[in-house]
Amino acid sequence: MSLRRSRIIGCGSYLPERVVTNAELGASVDTTDDWVVQRTGIRERRIAAKDQRCADLAREAARAALASAGVDPATGLDFIVLATTTPDNTFPATAARVQAALGMTRGMAFDVQSVCSGFIFALSVADNFIRTGQCRTGVVIGAEVYSRILDWEDRGTCVLFGDGAGAVVLSAVEGENGSGTGAGAGILSTHLHSDGRHYDLLYVDGGVSTTGTAGHVRMNGREVFKHAVTNLSGVAEEALAAHGLTPADISWLVPHQANKRIIDGVARKLGVPAERVVVTVDRHANTSAASIPLALDEAVGDGRIKAGDLVLMEAIGGGFSWGAALVRW
Ligand code: UT7
Repeated sequence: MSLRRSRIIGCGSYLPERVVTNAELGASVDTTDDWVVQRTGIRERRIAAKDQRCADLAREAARAALASAGVDPATGLDFIVLATTTPDNTFPATAARVQAALGMTRGMAFDVQSVCSGFIFALSVADNFIRTGQCRTGVVIGAEVYSRILDWEDRGTCVLFGDGAGAVVLSAVEGENGSGTGAGAGILSTHLHSDGRHYDLLYVDGGVSTTGTAGHVRMNGREVFKHAVTNLSGVAEEALAAHGLTPADISWLVPHQANKRIIDGVARKLGVPAERVVVTVDRHANTSAASIPLALDEAVGDGRIKAGDLVLMEAIGGGFSWGAALVRW
C-alpha cells in the first residue's frame, strides 16, 4: 500500500465586492427576503463586476492559497486543477489562463466540470495524481460566475446562486506522516458518484452542441432537494465507513452550500451537531464548485479548523454527481 498521500497546506478565497441582498432581488422578481431566508437560509450573495471573468476570481483565490502555503507558483507547482461550470471561454481551459496569470510556465493546468460537486471531483483527481507519484504540489480551485448563466426573471433559481472562488494547495506527504488510516494528516480518501438519469432535474438549457448559446440554469428544486439529502448523507457514511470512523469522529462538516435546510437535513441524518457544521450559505448563497473551498478558507482562517481535526466535505450537483472527501487536518 502506498505511503504517499496529499495534504492541504494552504487555503485562499476571493469574493467579488458587490453584495446583492434578497430585498434588492425583490425589486425585479416576485420574491421577498422572508421567503428566501426561510426556504434557503440565504440573506445575500456576491455578484462579479461586468469585466470580471471566472479566471480573475480563480487567480485571486489561488494567489491567496499559495501565499498561505508559502509556495512560489513559478517554481513550486506541478499542476492546477480548476473546477467550474462557468469558464471564460469554451476553450482553452480557464485553468490555463490562471496558470499564465500566476507566472507558472511548467506543469499542467486543466478544468474539471462536475457542477456543484466540482471541487470534490477536482480534489479527487489532484489527490490521485499525487498518490501515484506523478506530481508533488498543485492547486485545486473552485471558481464560478453563476450570475452569467442565471435567468434573472426566474425567481425559482435567480435568488439561489452567487459568484466567488476558493482554492487549496496540495502537497505530497510521505512516510510516517502519510501512513496508517486516520493516523497522519492529509486526504484520507475521496468518494465520487454520478447518475446521469437525473439530467433534466438540474441543467443549463444551452451549450455549444445544442443551442450554441451559454443558456440558463433550470431546476426542479423540490426533486433536487430530496436526492440531495439522501445522496449526501449516503456518501458521507460511505467515507466514514471506509476508515472505520463514525459521525461522532467528525470535527467539522464542510458541506456544499446550496440550502441551509439541506445542510441541516444531512447533519441531522448523520447526527452531527450544528456547532460542528461550517455554514456560509447565508452570505455567499450557492457558489457551486466554489462553495466548499470558500467555506474551508473561512473556517481555517478564523481558527475553527485546527491541526488534527477530522474534516468531512460533501457536495452534490447536476448530473447528478456527488461526492465526499475525508481529510485529517
Ligand atoms: O447545488 C445543488 C443544486 N441545488 C440545490 O440543492 C437546490 C435544491 N432545492 C432547493 O433548495 C429548494 O427546493 C428551493 C429553495 C429551490 C425551493 O424551495 P421549496 O421549499 O422546495 O419550494 P418549492 O419549489 O416547492 O416552491 C414552493 C412555492 C411555489 O409556489 P406554489 O407553486 O406553491 O404556489 C414556488 O412558485 O414557492 C414559490 N417560489 C417562490 N416564492 C417566492 C419559488 N421561488 C420563489 C421565490 N420567492 N424566490
